[in-house]
Amino acid sequence: MPDQTQFKLIAHSESMHDILKRIDTISDSDSSVLLIGETGVGKEMVAEYVHRTSSRADQPFVKVGLAALPPDLLESELFGHEKGAFTSASSEKKGLFELANFGSIFLDDIDDFPINLQSKLLRVLESSEIMRVGGMKPIPIDVRLITAAKIDLREMCNRGLFRSDLYYRINVVPITIPPLRERSDDIPQLIQHFLDRFAPNKQLQVSKNAMEALIRYPWPGNIRELRNIIQRITLFANSEITESDLPDEIQSDNPIETLLKACHRCFNEDNMTFEQVVSCLEVNLIRQALQQANGNRSQAARQLKMSLSTFRDKLKKYNLESE
Ligand SMILES: Nc1ncnc2c1ncn2[C@@H]1O[C@H](COP(=O)(O)OP(=O)(O)OP(=O)(O)O)[C@@H](O)[C@H]1O
Ligand SMILES: [Mg+2]
Repeated sequence: MPDQTQFKLIAHSESMHDILKRIDTISDSDSSVLLIGETGVGKEMVAEYVHRTSSRADQPFVKVGLAALPPDLLESELFGHEKGAFTSASSEKKGLFELANFGSIFLDDIDDFPINLQSKLLRVLESSEIMRVGGMKPIPIDVRLITAAKIDLREMCNRGLFRSDLYYRINVVPITIPPLRERSDDIPQLIQHFLDRFAPNKQLQVSKNAMEALIRYPWPGNIRELRNIIQRITLFANSEITESDLPDEIQSDNPIETLLKACHRCFNEDNMTFEQVVSCLEVNLIRQALQQANGNRSQAARQLKMSLSTFRDKLKKYNLESE
């Protein structure tokens, strides 16, 4: 188990339990791990858990936010450069791969990795050697790779935006972290965790109604959104947190509004097609109806005013038959 003093990963739900168990079973391995999940689900935290439970735990853990790095600096940031490699290279510089040597490197937002550099990354992973920009001799490296993506990389491979050979190389152990709305069992413990963290001296309680509203809310921004809201509430609350202390969108019990929030990501994503947005809405409606009907399909179909056969067709179409 990792050192828990600075790092506390809440995993009360069965799905999170299973994820940690799976990671524990590969703690002795150097396999590449790909974490997949919506924004704020805890990909970075799980990446750190992978490192902390591995045999490399005492070695460096280097996090790289690819979305935030300008593409023209990426190669020299990752692999380093020699003195004079380009105009501003006044001295030699180690890259992030070299800094992560013997430890793990976490490449966040791997879907943002530019296609023109993907073959170079693949070569580095295959050969365990890097070549600094402007360098002549390969440098051996021993790094465990952990990556994260918010979107389906297979889809990107099909569209020619991601090399499939690189995808197979990074996808040795894929781990999908479910959105918070699909593991609401975690919500009470996460709330307690953030209350302890942001208001350790206030001993705040959450009323039953407020807790129910917090559990019902679909959390489009996942744990990050929950953390921010709890942090804000702790500034003003003094004893019990009641429903009126919660932001309006959480108090509201309007199903359409709730659903639109669950689909928040679709409406804000530039590259989603009309069809993808509609599919996402359908999937969320179906999931919500199934959840409210405790998995009873006839009841869920009735609730959506849909025939059972149409409902079944949709479960099949969206690969939801196991839900
Ligand atoms: N299981 C958890 N227990 C406690 N805190 C968590 C957990 N998962 C996430 N958090 C907290 O929620 C916030 C968001 O988590 P994190 O940055 O790991 O998400 P992410 O999936 O990497 O998000 P993004 O896709 O936007 O980069 C962080 O403050 C993190 O500490
Ligand atoms: Mg992240």
